[in-house]
Amino acid sequence: MRITERPELGRLMTFELSKEKPVHGWFWYKEGYAPEIVEWALNCELERTGRKPETVLDPFCGVGTTLLAAKDNGIESAGVDASSLAAFVSRAKTDDYEREDIESALAFLQKKLDYRVAERMDWPFELFSTKAAFPKRNHTEILALREAIENEEGRTRNLLLLALLSILPQSSIILKDGGVLKIDRNKRALPAREIFRRKVKRMARELEGRRQGHVPKVFLGDARALDIGGSEVDLIVTSPPYLNNIDYSKVYGLELSLLSMSKAEAEEVRMRAVRSFIGRRMEVDAMPPEVGDVGIRIPIVGTYFKDMEAGIMEMFRVLTPGGAAYVNVSNSVIHETHVIVDEVFAQMAERIGFAETEIVVGAERIADVRPQKVKTRESVVIMRKG
Ligand SMILES: C[S@@+](CC[C@H](N)C(=O)[O-])C[C@H]1O[C@@H](n2cnc3c(N)ncnc32)[C@H](O)[C@@H]1O
Repeated sequence: MRITERPELGRLMTFELSKEKPVHGWFWYKEGYAPEIVEWALNCELERTGRKPETVLDPFCGVGTTLLAAKDNGIESAGVDASSLAAFVSRAKTDDYEREDIESALAFLQKKLDYRVAERMDWPFELFSTKAAFPKRNHTEILALREAIENEEGRTRNLLLLALLSILPQSSIILKDGGVLKIDRNKRALPAREIFRRKVKRMARELEGRRQGHVPKVFLGDARALDIGGSEVDLIVTSPPYLNNIDYSKVYGLELSLLSMSKAEAEEVRMRAVRSFIGRRMEVDAMPPEVGDVGIRIPIVGTYFKDMEAGIMEMFRVLTPGGAAYVNVSNSVIHETHVIVDEVFAQMAERIGFAETEIVVGAERIADVRPQKVKTRESVVIMRKG
């Protein structure tokens, strides 16, 4: 295992840069990275092997950053995510759109909405009444839009639904704070219909003249058991959930429930998700040997590495000989214990059969691990299959 430093990668490991980028910025996903990470991985592999990867996979695809970057580079790709919200956003961002799809989305903005139906509609959300999360007018507008969008066809429907899901944070009085949703009565919610209209216009503008290409295949699934044959993928670029106790099915619960219009969907997402948060299934048999006592002492550490061991085994299986996985991770401080996630990933990868591993450190932070302070880091673990 080699450790190198590339501080210039640090700012690419967050979603901040993606916000203003065409298409990438359509849906704010705090856990995402910038497409430049994918460009960097593609260039490294081109330099190393002398050829451009032909197939790219992201087994934790989130909102499709890797897939969109692959498409923009004319490369075939596939993505998997445990969340139906993430899979939907990935598909909608990476599809090929025809002029008519975009024109119909713009024409939708002129349609009259049925607010009376919306007032009687139920928004099935598992945590609290959604009425508490929005000013009354916004709540009605959002449900009226949701209902009207369902009458639209295929790709137009997807564009409009993505626009609607993307405006929930700004049109609500919810704060996403450290993995939980908090109602903040001092927050100013923006008018839902107006920001929806602006969003659809932005999307239409950014699709204009966009080149069509390989539309990625996006699967709702589990990175621990991929529905992909062995030795099919040249390059993996991905970022699994961090060991930080954040449950995506809760943080994005409002968006997930508006997409599925079902309360049960969140639990299904949790069942597929890597156990990086405290949940119900905290038992682990046969802990990966690299984890040590900390996996027993802090159960979430044990479940996390057990699940990620299965994920890394799947990456090894689907990669072509000579292929590589670029896995963006962050080390964690959990229960005042510094967990060096990147080194455990690299050690597990070597045991699983990867010929070579490298930890490329992008950013360092100082964390309080009483009684001392420790330097923790965010990095990309490169795993090369021989
Ligand atoms: C850090 S985010 C990925 C963000 C992505 N790189 C981007 O730029 O959008 C991790 C993703 O892993 C997904 N996930 C969690 N457990 C999973 C599993 N078992 N299989 C597949 N995806 C999973 C989460 O839903 C989340 O979207």
